[in-house]
Amino acid sequence: MAPKAATELAMIWLWLLLVALIAAPAGADPQTRLLNQGCSQYNASDLSDFYANLNATFSDLGDQLGGGGKHFATAQQTRGSSPVYAMAQCRNYLSVADCSDCFAAAEKQIRNCSAANGARVIYDGCFLRYESNGFYDQTTLPGNVGLCGKQTVSRNAAVFTSAVEEMLSDLQVATPKINGFFAAVKKEATASGGGENVTVYGVAQCAETVTKSGCEACLEVAYANLQSCLPDTDGRAVDAGCFLRYSNASFFAQNQTTNLAPFLSNGSSSKKAIIGGVVGGVGALLLLLLIGFFVWFKRSRKPQAGARGDILGATELQGPVNYRFKDLKSATNNFSQENKLGEGGFGDVYKGTLRNGKLVAVKKLAIGQSQRGKAEFESEVKLISNVHHRNLVRLLGCSNKGPELLLVYEYMANSSLDRFLFGERRGSLNWTQRHDIIMGTAKGLAYLHEEFHICIIHRDIKTSNILLDNDFHPKIADFGLARLLPEDQTHLSTRFAGTLGYTAPEYSIHGQLSEKADVYSYGVVVLEIISGQKSNEIREDDPVGEYLLERAWKLHERNSHIELVDESLDPEEYEGETMKKIIEIALMCIQSSPAARPTMSEVVVLLKSKDSLSPRPLTRPVFVDGNLWPKGDASTSTASSASNATASISRVSGR
Ligand SMILES: *[C@@H]1O[C@H](CO)[C@@H](O)[C@H](O)[C@H]1NC(C)=O
Ligand SMILES: *[C@@H]1O[C@H](CO)[C@@H](O)[C@H](O)[C@H]1NC(C)=O
Ligand SMILES: *[C@@H]1O[C@H](CO)[C@@H](O)[C@H](O)[C@H]1NC(C)=O
Ligand SMILES: *[C@@H]1O[C@H](CO)[C@@H](O)[C@H](O)[C@H]1NC(C)=O
Ligand SMILES: *[C@@H]1O[C@H](CO)[C@@H](O)[C@H](O)[C@H]1NC(C)=O
Ligand SMILES: *[C@@H]1O[C@H](CO)[C@@H](O)[C@H](O)[C@H]1NC(C)=O
Repeated sequence: MAPKAATELAMIWLWLLLVALIAAPAGADPQTRLLNQGCSQYNASDLSDFYANLNATFSDLGDQLGGGGKHFATAQQTRGSSPVYAMAQCRNYLSVADCSDCFAAAEKQIRNCSAANGARVIYDGCFLRYESNGFYDQTTLPGNVGLCGKQTVSRNAAVFTSAVEEMLSDLQVATPKINGFFAAVKKEATASGGGENVTVYGVAQCAETVTKSGCEACLEVAYANLQSCLPDTDGRAVDAGCFLRYSNASFFAQNQTTNLAPFLSNGSSSKKAIIGGVVGGVGALLLLLLIGFFVWFKRSRKPQAGARGDILGATELQGPVNYRFKDLKSATNNFSQENKLGEGGFGDVYKGTLRNGKLVAVKKLAIGQSQRGKAEFESEVKLISNVHHRNLVRLLGCSNKGPELLLVYEYMANSSLDRFLFGERRGSLNWTQRHDIIMGTAKGLAYLHEEFHICIIHRDIKTSNILLDNDFHPKIADFGLARLLPEDQTHLSTRFAGTLGYTAPEYSIHGQLSEKADVYSYGVVVLEIISGQKSNEIREDDPVGEYLLERAWKLHERNSHIELVDESLDPEEYEGETMKKIIEIALMCIQSSPAARPTMSEVVVLLKSKDSLSPRPLTRPVFVDGNLWPKGDASTSTASSASNATASISRVSGR
């Protein structure tokens, strides 16, 4: 019996040991709360190469993090036509096992992007990203964002806020100086009035492949992004090259904290020590020299610190930012009248200044919200925010949680083209600028129609939708918004069917929509740019009372195109032949039959070519101008559809 009891005892011990072993990792936490993920809009070109490369890279990364015990790894496979570059990083406070688990979760999650040639997944505990190009030195990119907590601290908000700001500022300064670019800190602040002390926790980390100044630049942006979260209980800032997080609750083990003191005193106090020594020893002259040197040194370093990552490339870290309604409300001064930039077909637009000082344009969408609509809204916003072209206004993000749907765009200093053609700045654009606008607008539209992976028809091209940047380069606004409308509202609606005077007849009359409707509107815009005359207004000094298109056509028939040109343009500045050619291109665009109009890429080619046009037979356009049906002989070719049209037109114009 005795030996049996002994084995039983041994078994129990073994069992207890096992329980202890299993229980230990049960306290572990790989922190796989998903913060951010994105898949590139582009798929790899060769799938078998791609998957082989992807699998090999991931397995390499897994080995480095798991077996190798590292917290940061890069790996690439560049075999074949679909190379893969990948990077993974765990927060240094994670154990090797947790890091491994976090990476495994990220790998699983990122495969949801199927064959996208770039993707990223960011968790609290780790991140994984791959691209078809090297990106290891990227620091801060558009799409960087602060993710704020859902609740604000209930007590001592002011103490909490200043404690967090101080901690984050210390992290921002110290982390780039720390080997491995990682720091975790805990900071205690004494509450005023002898209450309980406030404790805050923070972590900063940069990719190990960025430079010190890159890490600085990235954390600077991250810090600015988090400041707008306060006094929320927690916040996280994600970017291509760094991560910054704070919380009122501890999220790492006590023994993981970093002593920042040596890295902080280095900067400021050694400076003071030097200055102090100099004052005591050599005197004021040297001090001045030293200050001068210091200022110069700081200045000369500045641009480097501000260096940004590559903003080109389809697969960079990006995606629409979800802004908080209250932040946009305060950015626009509560949507005040002074901040109002204009009223568009889709809603009013306001100028906003974000907390980090960035100027944006905020559009309050006048579109009804439904639950189904919200999900679609998000996916459309995601799509539109991925449209990048120098002649298209960038959509930065949206807010759809508050009482209004808001879209946030890059801010255009010079507002819209109509102001420079017909408004208070009338006559101030010279021909070179106008030609650049004609060309740029064509390129932007060609991109929307033919180069982006789905064809986006704008439906409302007009001079007030063409914005001008600092250098008067054109950027088309409001594209893709028509996609946000429920199907039944898109066609012949009173509000959104486009703008009278610019809308192609087949669209305004029959609701037939194709990208050729945009070509038509583009043609009208070109004639407006050349003539300085609004398409739906008759010039005051015009005895015949012709609308723009009719006038342009008649001048074309008489071969006296130059008479159309805006008198405020210097005739020395343009060549008659070029002008004639561009007017003819515009007339081609406004042909009644959509098939007779060129595509936008053809327009770009025609505009670029030095030759005069090979004469395409142009036919008389339909003149659906102004609020009136054209008078007299102009209606002959359209008489059959006139009664039909008047009904639709009155629907279009009757708001
Ligand atoms: C990429 O592939 C996915 C799934 O295989 C597909 O749904 C998506 O439309 C593709 N994207 C492009 C741009 O071809
Ligand atoms: C790559 O890995 C995935 C998931 O582990 C697997 O389904 C797929 O077959 C692998 N592809 C190749 C080409 O090895
Ligand atoms: C992948 O995406 C599908 C649908 O988008 C979702 O249902 C699924 O949960 C995702 N898988 C992971 C691991 O996130
Ligand atoms: C953090 O703040 C929230 C809200 O004030 C509070 O409910 C929570 O208990 C706090 N957590 C800790 C660890 O203090
Ligand atoms: C608060 O912190 C201070 C030092 O920062 C310490 O002296 C004091 O005892 C703390 N108070 C409490 C209630 O923990
Ligand atoms: C921190 O403490 C944990 C136990 O709580 C221990 O397992 C770990 O080894 C410690 N880490 C360091 C760096 O001391």
